[in-house]
Amino acid sequence: MPGERAKQRLIVVSNRLPYVFKRGENGRWLTERGAGGLVSALLPVLRDRGGSWIGWPGTADGSSDLEAAVTAAGGEVGFALKAVTLDAREVHEFYHGFANEIIWPLFHDLQSLCNFEPAYWRTYKEVTRKFAEAVLAVSGGDDFIWVHDYHLMNVAAELRALGYRSRIGFFLHIPFPSPDIFFNLPWRSALLHALSQYDLVGFQTLRDRRNFIQCLRSVMEEVAIQGKGQVVSLTVNGRTVRVGNFPISIDYDAFVRQAGTDEVAQRAQELHRLLPRRNLILGVDRLDYTKGIPLRLLAFKAALERYPELRERISLIQVVVPSRVDIPQYHDLKMKIEQLVGEINGGFVRPGGWVPVWYEYGSLRRKDLLAYYRAADIALITPLKDGMNLVAKEYCACSIEEECVLILSEFAGAAAQLQNGALLVNPYDIEGVADMLHRAFTMSDEERRARMRRMRRSIRETDIFWWVDSFLRAAIAKDLSAFPQPADHATEAVPDYVPI
Ligand code: UDP
Ligand code: G6P
Repeated sequence: MPGERAKQRLIVVSNRLPYVFKRGENGRWLTERGAGGLVSALLPVLRDRGGSWIGWPGTADGSSDLEAAVTAAGGEVGFALKAVTLDAREVHEFYHGFANEIIWPLFHDLQSLCNFEPAYWRTYKEVTRKFAEAVLAVSGGDDFIWVHDYHLMNVAAELRALGYRSRIGFFLHIPFPSPDIFFNLPWRSALLHALSQYDLVGFQTLRDRRNFIQCLRSVMEEVAIQGKGQVVSLTVNGRTVRVGNFPISIDYDAFVRQAGTDEVAQRAQELHRLLPRRNLILGVDRLDYTKGIPLRLLAFKAALERYPELRERISLIQVVVPSRVDIPQYHDLKMKIEQLVGEINGGFVRPGGWVPVWYEYGSLRRKDLLAYYRAADIALITPLKDGMNLVAKEYCACSIEEECVLILSEFAGAAAQLQNGALLVNPYDIEGVADMLHRAFTMSDEERRARMRRMRRSIRETDIFWWVDSFLRAAIAKDLSAFPQPADHATEAVPDYVPI
């Protein structure tokens, strides 16, 4: 692999660049790191390998000085940044519309939230064509083009239409739904054809990959499968497409190192001083209806009602990171969460004493996030559906004393890997989650350590550099038999998660 590594330049293409560009009061461009797992995962990869990152700078302000600001920011981070600018209509119909009002809810099994507006599909094709043109402008032809996530599924189809014949990879960061759900999409055949224009399509879990193959088999006339390991080869209407499951991960060593600094340790101690003599329970999520925050709050309340001994002994710190605030459903969700927090605190709080829920709305600085991870005795991560959930892995990495408990939704991609130590829950089961909180609270130190150690080992062995190497190897390997299912991930014979 090191040989191949040196040869090909990596060109990452995603909707979002790693930085959001905003105009400051003095008229100069300011940058802010983009929120979410895609940016968190890919930043260390580009810093490590170099290459180019093509994406949208997060603003509809198309002033002529924006491109120069993006290029200059690339100079500072050590890899090239190339902007694809979008006007206000494109932002509305492509990003808010097709990506986040159709594909995002549909692929998270929330089809009732979809707005199947035909204009969105037309703009989706136009914008993905723009991304394809940006790739051609940057690529020298022998680069490895790696397209990311649901916004850009159509980019290979546009590149092929423009005559591009070299290898293109795609990784889907979110789940791929079952045929029952996927077939609601009015443009289902076009999208499956578009995905089969890649040479390698990567999914987070075996379940996502299986769903994709089932959809493909129902729609395409001929689909033959060769192999049965982590990567298989499909022949789709005469074209060969490799398909694999590659659970995305984190820069484990960096998290361990940074969590171990004195500064982070002091901040974590401060938190315990502020909230003395109690177990801290942590939730960290982008503001998103897939994250299950209202149900989680209800489960926390149920735990306090069912187990009075937990009162004044636990506090939930819930961090909500602003996201997609221009979409009405996201705004409504914020109201709902804040109302629930108010109700729970109002119901249990005693004058001058214990506050059950500490709610924080905003982006955290890295050191504060690490301090929360280190200080929390229990992480309560209960998405209704999630591609992977990197917060779960980051929390385990930062649990350097290995005395913490992870409560994790069965429906997070991370459950397939972390079922070796996490307490798995059904996020819809309010009383079940409440009981699991009690179980975590009363768990012996010995059991906590044994569980956390198993999870940390598996995250360390399959970190973000393992992920990128296995994806790139799968794209170029001659022989796929070198890709058996990793031992601690789901296999064809074993379900992705084992319900309790
Ligand atoms: N994160 C962030 N800003 C914050 C707090 C957290 O960007 O203020 C990061 C967090 O460290 C994690 C990512 O956001 O890497 C969330 O990724 P995850 O896979 O859990 O969910 P996603 O937001 O991608 O759905
Ligand atoms: C998820 C998606 C990413 C996206 C991130 C933040 O992690 O998989 O593609 O970048 O959410 O959402 P945003 O809409 O702000 O890019």
